Amino acid sequence: MEYSRGSQNLKLAEIVSALSYALDLTDGQPPGHSVRCCWIGMHIADALGLSNIEMRDIYYTLFLKDLGCSSNAARICKLFVTNDHDFKRNVKLIDNSLTQVLSFVASNTAVKSGMAERLRAVLNLAINGSKIDRELIETRCERGADIARRMRFPEPVARGILDLDEHWDGRGQPVGLKGKDISLYARIALLAQVIDVFNITSGRASALEEVRRRSGRWFDPYLVDVFEQVAEKPDFWSGLEDPELDKRVFALEPAGFTQFVDDDFLDDIADAFAQVVDAKSPFTSGHSKRVALISELIATELGVDPARKRWLVRGALLHDIGKLGISNEILDKPSKLDPDEWAAMKTHPSLGAKILSRIEAFSGLASIARDHHEKLDGSGYPRGISGNDLDLETRIVTVADIFDALTADRPYREAMPTSKALAIMVRDVGTALDPDCYFALMRSLNRLTTKAKAA
Ligand SMILES: [Fe+2]
Ligand SMILES: [Fe+2]
Repeated sequence: MEYSRGSQNLKLAEIVSALSYALDLTDGQPPGHSVRCCWIGMHIADALGLSNIEMRDIYYTLFLKDLGCSSNAARICKLFVTNDHDFKRNVKLIDNSLTQVLSFVASNTAVKSGMAERLRAVLNLAINGSKIDRELIETRCERGADIARRMRFPEPVARGILDLDEHWDGRGQPVGLKGKDISLYARIALLAQVIDVFNITSGRASALEEVRRRSGRWFDPYLVDVFEQVAEKPDFWSGLEDPELDKRVFALEPAGFTQFVDDDFLDDIADAFAQVVDAKSPFTSGHSKRVALISELIATELGVDPARKRWLVRGALLHDIGKLGISNEILDKPSKLDPDEWAAMKTHPSLGAKILSRIEAFSGLASIARDHHEKLDGSGYPRGISGNDLDLETRIVTVADIFDALTADRPYREAMPTSKALAIMVRDVGTALDPDCYFALMRSLNRLTTKAKAA
């Protein structure tokens, strides 16, 4: 497997654009939502005559507006007893008028449950609705802004993400900011979001009608006027429908501001995105970070060279990125998955590989994501490939992944001690698991235990 050794030619915009597809999955949006929002919002920003620095900041705010979206998925699933993806997609189609909210709650709460559970969930929402709404949005926005800062984006970008759900009339969340107290980038991003959602669902006339209807309530009326002028340009709509929209959006990055990503920056981006993945479910909290750490221990024990190890750690951090596309109904289910749920769960390696392979230099990371549930004897998924087709990096991550899964709490069982986990894993060594990786893990853990005892 050819791994990228350097990252000098990697452009920040290309990485962020690829990773934004993972955010679309989490938010239940059709692929490309974030990229389309970037196209829409940049046209509005351009018509406003923003400076190049402002254009750069709004560019990244638009790509990353949903950065915190995984952090409230588990809670949505629990509170509304529903599929978080369907919920997140449907909620974007309503405004906050009482009639729409009530009919939304009635048709999106506990849809597959019996009457009693449904009634309990709806009553809870009726009593605590506004508090819950604020909590959910607060979690999402604060988390998103925090991750943006960790990805080294400047404060205006973080603020744009933080204010995304504030409304012009002061009736938004979580703070209830009003008018121009709301970040301009957030005002543009929310407008772009609603335009894309309605355009994709019911066409451009519907998108225009909806933004006019919400002008002065959700949206800054001046921005709506600006958008109406943008919408008269045929190039705007034909560009939005271009299958190669990604390339057009790359060209919108302000001249002279193209940012390249060095190794340290790439480590930070992988680390920050691992947090987006880990935030999706309470049962995966910290999983990607621990798998990265365990993979690093194994690789060190096996004498893997530092540059290769660095890419391995990034691959381990992002190995489960496809889980952002799996509903929390499945991820957090406390009992055995039924065949359909299991089939859905098994799609996460391919979903992850699809996102990561959008960047040529990430081909090694994509193959770790695709193959980390494969086994040496061909008994794994999704492809059932065997030994010769699995590179060292994937074998390492597979061992680290299983070890962490066994030693962490799961929805259906408690964490088990290290010795028990190793004893379970050893049964599969040589058939399913790579012996070198397994014994390297054992040696490394023994050494750590000895050191801890001596200290
Ligand atoms: Fe996985
Ligand atoms: Fe995993």
